[in-house]
Amino acid sequence: MRFAAETGTVMRREIMRQVYLDNSATTAVLPEVAAEMQKVLLDAYGNPSSLHTMGVEAERIKNAARRILAEACGGREEELIFTSGGTEANNLAVKGVARRLKRRGRHLITTQVEHPSVLYACRALEEEGFSVTYLPVDGTGRVRLDALEEALQEDTLLVSVMHVNNETGTVMPVAEIGRLVKEKAPEALFHVDAVQSFGKLPVSAGDWQADLITISAHKIHGPKGCGALWRRAGVPLAPLFHGGDQEAGLRPGTENMAGIAGFAAAARLALAEQSKRAAGLARLKEFFLRAVFAAIPDITVNSPKEAAPHIVSITFPGVKGEVLVHELTRWGIYVSTGSACHSRRADPSHVLLAMGRTPKEIEATLRFSFSPLNTEAELEYTVEKLQQAVAHLRRLTRRK
Ligand SMILES: Cc1ncc(COP(=O)(O)O)c(C=O)c1O
Repeated sequence: MRFAAETGTVMRREIMRQVYLDNSATTAVLPEVAAEMQKVLLDAYGNPSSLHTMGVEAERIKNAARRILAEACGGREEELIFTSGGTEANNLAVKGVARRLKRRGRHLITTQVEHPSVLYACRALEEEGFSVTYLPVDGTGRVRLDALEEALQEDTLLVSVMHVNNETGTVMPVAEIGRLVKEKAPEALFHVDAVQSFGKLPVSAGDWQADLITISAHKIHGPKGCGALWRRAGVPLAPLFHGGDQEAGLRPGTENMAGIAGFAAAARLALAEQSKRAAGLARLKEFFLRAVFAAIPDITVNSPKEAAPHIVSITFPGVKGEVLVHELTRWGIYVSTGSACHSRRADPSHVLLAMGRTPKEIEATLRFSFSPLNTEAELEYTVEKLQQAVAHLRRLTRRK
């Protein structure tokens, strides 16, 4: 596997060493993926709704992609709806189910640590008259099953829980949640946001008893702006947009064909190498953690031991995370304070707050997220610069 970064087309990369450790925010597009996208952009550029041969060819490419992605979720080809990304797929799942089923009930359940595309979709539904239970999590970020059991009602329409948390890597017990939902409220639908796990950990509609699953291309070395919602056949959904009858009328609009082809290519590679990549990521994370603990005193890891292999959240007391991000950037090292969509906001991470961390601890927290592109040498370099930066910033704090 060769990554775009290795081609050296970006001048800055030749001048300064670059270590990209923000792979939960997004990933580099693989050359093989870019090549598939280029074919669609330059040659197979027909509109899949056209009746002529170029349209038929585009339709064939789209449906081949649909099959790969649907089967990767444990479903069938006709059950997958392409969207503009994970955000739209989450909105379609949450609002689509609620609005279509509002005559049956008005109650939804989610957790306090979901991605904003689920949390704010739920808040928007509250304004439309729905009621939402936001389940608490324990200190490791896992949803409390006793709270779920208590919250499930006869008229609960949907339970939406993420598989892997984007800030901590915490893996939610989705199979247990699915079992509980179907046992206690058999009519409720179960949605899983699998954006951070798809292509890295097994995703299985059957094992989870899931009715809807969200996935996104740009977290698996595919393009930004392309995602999908897998929806079990027969699950009722109201579309977010109205227009043509693409995607069975559930997501009208001419398809992002380059994105779809790139998503399928990225998924094919990720699935073929899934266990190898996961083992490699776990080794990288262990190597990194051992080196960080050896180099820097008084740190806390917020991610549980059994977290997903590509994410680790660490608190460096006495240091402002935001300042540390900028210090590391000077050395070409790219990390983040929390989720990408939150990192420009001043309020503390809702995920770490729900896990019981104080605003002061949250302010001192960084997220490191890895990809198979990273090497141990890069991590050694990162820890060396991290150690210098943390020591320097702690000295400054003590002097104040
Ligand atoms: C858990 C989770 N859900 C949803 C999304 C949104 O996906 P997209 O960026 O494709 O809109 C993200 C992106 O960071 C995510 O981490």
